[in-house]
Amino acid sequence: MTVDSVRPEVPEVRELSVPPLAGGGLPVLGHGWKLVRDPLGFLARLRDHGDVVRLRMGPKTVYAVTTPALTGALALSPDYEIGGPLWESLEGLLGRQGVATANGALHRRQRRTIQPAFRADTIPEYGPVMEEESKAFAERWEDGATVDCTSESFRVAVRVAARCLLRGRFMDERAERLSLALTTVFRGMYRRMVVPAGPLYRLPLPSIRAFDRALADLHALVDEIIDERRASGQKPNDLLTALLEAKNDDGDPIGEQEIHDQVVAILTPGSETIASTIMWLLQVLTEHPEHADKVAAEARSVAGDRPVGFDDVRKLSHTNNVVVEAMRLRPAVWILTRRAVAETELGGYRIPAGADIVYSPYAIQRDPRSYREHLDFDPDRWLPERSKDIPKYAMRPFSVGNRKCPSDHFSMALLSLVTATLASRWRFEQVPGSSDATRVGITLRPHELRLRARPR
Ligand code: HEM
Repeated sequence: MTVDSVRPEVPEVRELSVPPLAGGGLPVLGHGWKLVRDPLGFLARLRDHGDVVRLRMGPKTVYAVTTPALTGALALSPDYEIGGPLWESLEGLLGRQGVATANGALHRRQRRTIQPAFRADTIPEYGPVMEEESKAFAERWEDGATVDCTSESFRVAVRVAARCLLRGRFMDERAERLSLALTTVFRGMYRRMVVPAGPLYRLPLPSIRAFDRALADLHALVDEIIDERRASGQKPNDLLTALLEAKNDDGDPIGEQEIHDQVVAILTPGSETIASTIMWLLQVLTEHPEHADKVAAEARSVAGDRPVGFDDVRKLSHTNNVVVEAMRLRPAVWILTRRAVAETELGGYRIPAGADIVYSPYAIQRDPRSYREHLDFDPDRWLPERSKDIPKYAMRPFSVGNRKCPSDHFSMALLSLVTATLASRWRFEQVPGSSDATRVGITLRPHELRLRARPR
């Protein structure tokens, strides 16, 4: 008996009400223009219209979920899978056979293949690389020199992901190419997601050409990485070996396309999210010097005069709270989508089969109903005695359920280590022309953060 065949055909589902329609839609365009013009403000204001609200996106109806409890219910329910406009645009560009976009049995098999590389007891193996790259990052700053935080943050993110998971000899040139390709691809992809005007993106415009070139380079780089590993004849115990040796349900090796798509599906979310979060952490250390001082003091109290190391991370509780609070206010992943596989119920409302549902971790994590002084940067709200009052699912930057980010332990260890290493050595200030305004793309990041460092 399949799970589907026992799904109760609840007659009440048909009697459930239809969620209210969000205000401010335009004829024909619906709410799409608001998502283009002010996506964060628009998504945050949806909570004023209800727990579940309908949006009109051109001819389509999209459902938005606005409470922590319902985002948890959505992520944990078997009635939804990965789908919707975000994933369709990702699939078209990044590949259809990667873990981030697969569903059902394929997704379960792929998660089994990649999971060992991210298990909590595997992460310490990555400690030396994380330490080395954090230290190198801190050493690239010079007293008084201006640093472009976008490219530097990308470089750390790409190098750590590639060196830990693919054990590649990622020299600067390749990391640089990968970072450049990813930056351009992610920027263009967001536009293609919110304005899905297919033929428009075939026009011979410079930005479209740059996007096409970057996408081609990204795929070429991934092929290079795979070919290089095969040619080396080596099989280190890493994620790439796991992918190259993976078998499908019939016991046959998985196809070349799946291997390629899997590498893309792990490198792309891995670098963009970490890079964006590092940029926000740099912004936080600059804007809140009192917390930068506390992070530096904590690192000193734990590590003394030696540089802070991977093994120190779990003792860096204030640093960890700074990272969490930065991720609360500026979550890299600010919008998530699902598609209903059957007619179902959510929050007392009827959700038709095939409906697209969105929710915004950004809106949920800034909800004044969940957080006192919700816009204040207050890392101490994560102290155990205070965090117990925060509603369940009000802070799940890595999501929950079967699509939960496999890299939560990996990411938190790296982010805390980078933050402590930088703050122990430097104080930061923004230079003229720098902009820390929020730039909305596939992830959120500062528009153009340029900082000068002074030794501590
Ligand atoms: C999935 C957040 C870093 C690989 C996800 C999801 C979230 C997320 C929210 C779930 C998407 C959904 O529910 O639809 C983050 C954040 C990160 C981070 C906030 C860092 C600040 C990474 C890194 C890697 C990675 C470093 C790999 C090196 C993945 C993959 C998935 C995923 C492969 C797809 C999982 C699946 O669909 O089964 N991430 N992520 N992430 N993340 Fe991360």
